[in-house]
Amino acid sequence: MQSEINDRYTCRIDREISKGGMGTVYEATQLGAHGFAKKVAIKTILPTLCKHHQFIDMFIGEGKLVADLVHENIVQIYQLGHAQGAYFIVMEYVNGLSLHDFIRFHVASSQPVPTELAVFITSRIARGLAYAHSRQDRKGMPLNIVHRDVCPNNIMITTEGLPKLGDFGIAKAANNIIPLQERSLVGKLYYMSPEQAQRQPVDFRSDIYSLGLVLFELLALEKARFRDGAEVIATAQEGWLNWELLPKTVNPDLRGIMRRMLALDQAERYDSTAKLAHDLEYFIYHKGYGPTVVSLEKYLRENFPFLYVIGNVPLKEQPDDSIQRTIPMDLSKREEAGNAIRQACGKATEGPAACPTATAITAATESDGGPASAETVLADTAVAPDAGQQKATGNKS
Ligand SMILES: Nc1ncnc2c1ncn2[C@@H]1O[C@H](COP(=O)(O)OP(=O)(O)OP(=O)(O)O)[C@@H](O)[C@H]1O
Ligand SMILES: [Mg+2]
Repeated sequence: MQSEINDRYTCRIDREISKGGMGTVYEATQLGAHGFAKKVAIKTILPTLCKHHQFIDMFIGEGKLVADLVHENIVQIYQLGHAQGAYFIVMEYVNGLSLHDFIRFHVASSQPVPTELAVFITSRIARGLAYAHSRQDRKGMPLNIVHRDVCPNNIMITTEGLPKLGDFGIAKAANNIIPLQERSLVGKLYYMSPEQAQRQPVDFRSDIYSLGLVLFELLALEKARFRDGAEVIATAQEGWLNWELLPKTVNPDLRGIMRRMLALDQAERYDSTAKLAHDLEYFIYHKGYGPTVVSLEKYLRENFPFLYVIGNVPLKEQPDDSIQRTIPMDLSKREEAGNAIRQACGKATEGPAACPTATAITAATESDGGPASAETVLADTAVAPDAGQQKATGNKS
């Protein structure tokens, strides 16, 4: 029997999705034999970060740790590659929208997120976290995986109504290199646990706290930590929360769960993520029937119809720039902006713009070497965006 398979595969970059704090995310197509094509997402890591040995060591270490995480509520990592001094991650492509955009829509249209859907999304992410938090090595020792960056930007909802948590294993390396002040610029401080903002050691309870802040925002449509004029870092380190922002209508049982997620003292938080997931599920299902992926999909179809148009363009790329103007926004203008956003969302749009000089990433896979040792080549080539059979022409992008 053959002990190794050496094949080369090419990823064609189709479209830039977003530039995040650590790199750029692209929609891409992994090309295989005889026209095989699989949609993937590729995240390239900023070259400035790749220069830090400490960052790279930690990034690779965490990448190996999370490589085997396979759970329906976690964005799966397929490959960690290295080309021309830069690192990139090939991962599952999530067709849908980020929770950040989901919340942005509700803020702009002054439309509350139905409580049971907010809890459903949170419970699914809690299930993904519970799975990751409980992973053990081959000897049965806990791997102590902590996400460290649970926030609306890292949560996505597929068009089938399935919530997924992305960017596992990336934040640890980033937190050690990117100064706190800069993290605040990309909004991360709003979701950090107090111990993380204080740069204390963190465990799974830090993720529970961050998820509590996400649930708070889903229900309040405001950031729990929003304090006019105050330093975001100081507020995060103190663990200050404005509970007044939580609507009075929020059920006391749910408030109780949130108090345990958001307790300042880690010992007062849930002592297991599985228990948290159970409590959230009990809250929505104890009467017999509750929300499912089907109800979330139905809700997305009603409120984000553009997601279901073939060749859809994400909210942030919608032609109507009124969407961009809505955030941050004056509360009194919400209704007006909500109408604008609905109008823009309802529009059928053209397919993704062609990338005349997109970059193709060609990688050689090794059967036993693991992601970090795979030989990977970044080819600066022009690739037409539309079909798997197109050939690279060698133009520099
Ligand atoms: N696997 C994926 N499939 C589809 N879209 C994705 C995927 N990963 C990320 N995205 C999109 O890219 C956006 C930006 O993600 P990215 O992780 O680069 O930025 P961020 O989370 O804001 O910052 P950071 O770099 O600190 O993680 C997400 O909000 C989401 O819309
Ligand atoms: Mg991210």
